[in-house]
Amino acid sequence: MKTMINVALPKGRLGEKVYAMFEKAGYDCSSIKENSRKLTFENEEKGIRYFWVKPSDVAIYVERGAADIGVAGKDILLEYSPDVYELLDLGLGKCRMAVAGKTDFTDDTEKTLRVATKFVNIAMDYYSKKSRDIDIIKLNGSIELAPILGLSDVIVDIVETGTTLKENNLAPLETIVPISARLISNKASFKFKTAEIEAIKNAIALQTEVNS
Ligand code: PRP
Repeated sequence: MKTMINVALPKGRLGEKVYAMFEKAGYDCSSIKENSRKLTFENEEKGIRYFWVKPSDVAIYVERGAADIGVAGKDILLEYSPDVYELLDLGLGKCRMAVAGKTDFTDDTEKTLRVATKFVNIAMDYYSKKSRDIDIIKLNGSIELAPILGLSDVIVDIVETGTTLKENNLAPLETIVPISARLISNKASFKFKTAEIEAIKNAIALQTEVNS
């Protein structure tokens, strides 16, 4: 029987681009395009099975081995440090993690800086390297509201086009790290299904070269 590789893909626009890359790389699965609520799709002949999962959950599926490989944003990998191998930068979903605030923001270093974010670890790590005292305010969405309503001085969040900031009279102040989608692998899967996973990685790597 053919070894099946389980792939966790992030639901949404990024996931569709990622799947298109897998398809072009030769790992198609025609049933994935059927408009259904199904969450798993397999092509036994190609030895591949896809799952659609919430983007922030991909790393958990891969870390725990429910998926052999997956595609996760570097933001999630930096924030949660899952115990997985990072195999490849797909060059998709490019954006950056940035500090942003009101356009007239100036940092008063005498005071603790109030930072609102979903990315608590990334923010703490960034400011601890700068030896800046901060008070983290963990939010789960609409982070941009925090400085507008005076809940925080700045935010640490993903900036892609900058439109969300601009429309809320905020501006990017500092770039923390560039972000893009990464192909990741479960460690045990990589050991026991090396040939299959390497084959997928190499076929996808060729696609990233075509795209760049
Ligand atoms: C991210 C981020 C910003 C927005 C930035 O949100 O939190 O709100 O994208 O993009 P822009 O610079 O192109 O305007 P996302 O759409 O990922 O959803 P979220 O609210 O779940 O974080």
